[in-house]
Amino acid sequence: MAPPPRLRSTENEAPGSGPPALILAGRAFVRGTLQAVEFAVDEDGRIQSLGRIRRGAPRHDVGDAVILPAATDLHVHLREPGPDTKTENLATGTVEAALGGVTLVGEMPNTEPPVTDVEVLEDKESIVNGRAAVDVLLYASPTRPGSLDGLARHAGGFKIYLSPTTGIADVPSLNEVPSLLDRLAPLRLPVSVHAEDPRQFRQGMDAKAPPDWNVERPPAAEAAALLPLVSAPRALRLHVAHVTEAASVTRLREAGLSFEATPHHLLLSERSGKSAAWKVNPPLRSERDRAALWEAFCRGEVPSLASDHAPHSGTAKEVDFARAPSGMPGVETMLPLFLARVRSGDLPLSTLVAAACDRPARWLGQPLGRLAPGHRANFLVVDFRARTTISARRLHAPCGWTAFEGWEGIFPREHYRDGQAIVLGGEYVGRPVGRVVRPEFAPVPSPGTRLVRPSG
Ligand code: NCD
Ligand code: ZN
Repeated sequence: MAPPPRLRSTENEAPGSGPPALILAGRAFVRGTLQAVEFAVDEDGRIQSLGRIRRGAPRHDVGDAVILPAATDLHVHLREPGPDTKTENLATGTVEAALGGVTLVGEMPNTEPPVTDVEVLEDKESIVNGRAAVDVLLYASPTRPGSLDGLARHAGGFKIYLSPTTGIADVPSLNEVPSLLDRLAPLRLPVSVHAEDPRQFRQGMDAKAPPDWNVERPPAAEAAALLPLVSAPRALRLHVAHVTEAASVTRLREAGLSFEATPHHLLLSERSGKSAAWKVNPPLRSERDRAALWEAFCRGEVPSLASDHAPHSGTAKEVDFARAPSGMPGVETMLPLFLARVRSGDLPLSTLVAAACDRPARWLGQPLGRLAPGHRANFLVVDFRARTTISARRLHAPCGWTAFEGWEGIFPREHYRDGQAIVLGGEYVGRPVGRVVRPEFAPVPSPGTRLVRPSG
């Protein structure tokens, strides 16, 4: 693992290197709150200093808009390599991310072929380089014990599936999970788990709509899958993907594990739509369960927000509900949906920034997610008055549909990566300079208690 970057500890201190390449001025989210500041970006695209800056450089005053750190999305499926890269691929998905204010994506390994050995991982790295609009962390799937050490030297993290899902047919049995976790613990990489216990699934349901899917893969499957995880070795950097139940939030906080919730489980329920567009794993839950998860999120009890962006073509989704694949797109709409909830007063901005920007970046060991000296100058300019109605026609996902049609969104006006604009006026203006990143420093070791507090 690479040594930790030398992040400066005194937040206002200028590193004293060359003159700034760019100066930003405006109300910015700094140390947990919005305040009028100026900050300088150095030649390397790092935030150099905060405070009043006199030295000359292009100065960008954002006026009535606000400057926020750009988001990290821990969980996307960009489908490459795979048989249907017309529906999504690493180039299109990372442009959607850029437009949605997401500056780093954690790309899942359930591609075709799946990322189970170093060769596939290296192929995937070569697809990212020269094509990605934002940075990409690649998860590997630790299914073959022999390949673990090699994978650990290349991968950004591991993903374990405890139940079958898109592209995953075979999963370890739950009694094999503790030994798998033991083997992963010394490798020091973040490990994300899809936590549904298939022994709790109801067979022979012939699901016709989302409420049936919620019966077929019930909340009890999530509760059961958490059992081997909450007793996992302490050394393990364990993260539970797409948590759907408030009871799981309590459980995971007590155990001190990292976890995420998705926009669809926080905003949609089993009654939100009838077609297979709303079929997703884990299923959309009852309105009561959704509301409880949302309350926990607003109280700052959910460490990270992640999209589980999992597009499928319209044609694939048009077959019978029972046979349709699970998953919905979401990387472009995640932050805009939640910025709109901040605007309407339902959600504190500090809670959103902590969950969408700061904690996921720290979980992946990246100097991102905060406007602080030494961090990469990856930030957004957001005009909270610019509310729009989300419509698939105006989104950039080639799959061409969204489960959030008609919802209100606030899209970032500008997005900067290492101090360079990649979105201006809501349009993508970047180049494919995104690169593969790996943890630069250890994920926060004891996330449960420390991660639940919004931090500035
Ligand atoms: C994901 C996909 O389509 O890749 N589908 C989903 O319903 N979330 C796989 C997964 O994360 O389970
Ligand atoms: Zn997923």
